[in-house]
Amino acid sequence: MKKAFVKSYGCQMNAYDAGRMADVLGAEGYAATDMVEEADVVILNTCHIREKAADKVYSELGRLRVLKATRRESGQDTRIVVAGCVAQAEGAEILARAPAVDVVVGPQSYHNLPALLAASHTKRVVDTAFPIEDKFDHLPARRTSAVASFLTVQEGCDKFCAFCVVPYTRGAEVSRSVAAIRAEAEALARGGTREITLIGQNVNAYHGLGQDGTQAALPALMRELATIPGLLRLRYTTSHPNDMDGDLIRAHADIPALMPFLHLPVQSGSDRVLNAMNRKHDADTYRRLIARVREARPDIALSSDFIVGFPGETDQDFADTMRLVAEIGFASAYTFKYSPRPGTPAAEREDAVAEAAKSERLAALQALLDAQRHAYNAGFVGSVVDVLVEKAGREPGQVVGKTPHLLTVQIDAPATVIGTLVPVRIVRAGTNTLFGEIAHDAAVAA
Ligand code: SAH
Ligand code: SF4
Ligand code: F3S
Repeated sequence: MKKAFVKSYGCQMNAYDAGRMADVLGAEGYAATDMVEEADVVILNTCHIREKAADKVYSELGRLRVLKATRRESGQDTRIVVAGCVAQAEGAEILARAPAVDVVVGPQSYHNLPALLAASHTKRVVDTAFPIEDKFDHLPARRTSAVASFLTVQEGCDKFCAFCVVPYTRGAEVSRSVAAIRAEAEALARGGTREITLIGQNVNAYHGLGQDGTQAALPALMRELATIPGLLRLRYTTSHPNDMDGDLIRAHADIPALMPFLHLPVQSGSDRVLNAMNRKHDADTYRRLIARVREARPDIALSSDFIVGFPGETDQDFADTMRLVAEIGFASAYTFKYSPRPGTPAAEREDAVAEAAKSERLAALQALLDAQRHAYNAGFVGSVVDVLVEKAGREPGQVVGKTPHLLTVQIDAPATVIGTLVPVRIVRAGTNTLFGEIAHDAAVAA
C-alpha cells in the first residue's frame, strides 16, 4: 500500500484541510503515515501569516530534498507537495527555490490532488487558482471522527486588515450550506464525534444557504446542529468583533450545547492603532461587546489575539493595550510581534517599531496575560466540572479531556471513559493543564 505523510502548520483551518487532503489520498488507496521516511507522498500544508511560519517551509524542503534523493537511490519515488497559504502566495517562487517540489497546490484546489500527482510525473505542476467549483463538493467522505473535531463552515476573508495575508491566500468569504454542514456533522457524530468546533477565518460572518432556502447565520446553523443525536458540544472560532451581533450573543445564553468560550481577537487596545490596522472598530466598542457577552453568559471564558509593534505603535498605544487587557481579564490569549508581510498595506509603512521595543512589549503583555491565565485556571481548583474525555493521557491510567471553558484536564481514569462526559473534581492547576479525578458523587450537568 502506498503511504502519505501530511504535516500542517498554522491555523485550525489548515489542520482541517490537512485531514481532508489525507481523505482525498485515502480514497486513492494511500494509507496515512506519521513517518516521513516511508512516505510515497509528502505534503507540507503551509502557513504564510508571519515571516517565521513561511520561512520554516524552505528549511523543511531542504531536508525533504535529501530524503527524496536517499529514497531514489533505493528505487523509491517520493512526490513532494507544498499546499496551504505559502503555496498560494509564492507558488512560482517555491518551484524556483526548491527543486525537489513536484506539486504546488493552493487551499481552494486540493480536491485536485490525485490529478496533480499524476501530472507531476511528466512536469512540475502548480494549481493556485480560486476555482469556481466548490472543493467541498468534490471531497470524499471524512475517514476519521475524533471525539472533538473541526468542521470548516466558512472560508476566506473580505476584511483586509492592513497587516494580514489571509484575504490574499484564502480569497473572498464563502459559506457552505447548512445542508452540507449538517451532513458532515451527522457523519462525524455517527463515527463517535461528541464535540464540533465550527471554523472559519471569520466564522461569525457565516451566512450559508439555509434548509428553507433563505440565508442562515451562525446562530441558526448552531441551532440546527444542536439537534444531531450524539453531538453534545458546539464551539466556533475565529470571530471578528464587527460580526458579533445580538443574535450571536443571545445564542450564548440560549443554546445549551454552545460552550462558554469565546475567542474574539482585538489585536490592540489603542484606537489609533486599531484604525491604522483597518479593524473598523475602536477599543470601547470591543469593551461594550464583551460586557454584552458577559451579560448573556456570565461565566464565559474569553480569549483574544494581540499584535505588538504594529508600525507607528507608541509607548502610549501599547499602554492602552495593557489597560484593555487589565480591564477585561482573559482566560487565554495569543500574542504576536508584528511581522511585515509582502503585499499587505502595512508592510509599505516606514515607521516600523524597533525590534527591541517589540520584544519588550511582547514580554510585558505575555506576563500580564500569563498571570490572568494562572488566576483563571486556579479558580477551578476544588470545583467539579464536566469533562469531555478525548484520548489517553501522558501516563498509563490517565486520560485527557476538555472542560466547557476549553481547559485541558488530565484525569486518573480508565480508557473506557474516552468519548464520554464525566464529572471531574479539579485537584490542581498547572500552567497549561488542570489535574483532576472523577467525582463519583456528582453527575454531569448536561
Ligand atoms: N480572522 C482572525 C485572525 C486570523 S490570523 C481575525 O480577524 O481576528 C490569526 C492572528 O494572527 C491574528 O488575529 C493576528 O493576531 C495574527 N497576525 C495576522 N497577521 C499578522 C502579522 N502580519 N504579524 C503578526 N501577527 C499577525
Ligand atoms: Fe486577517 Fe483581518 Fe481577515 Fe482576520 S479579519 S483574517 S486578521 S484580514
Ligand atoms: Fe496561516 Fe493560512 Fe491559516 S496563512 S493562519 S494557514 S489561513
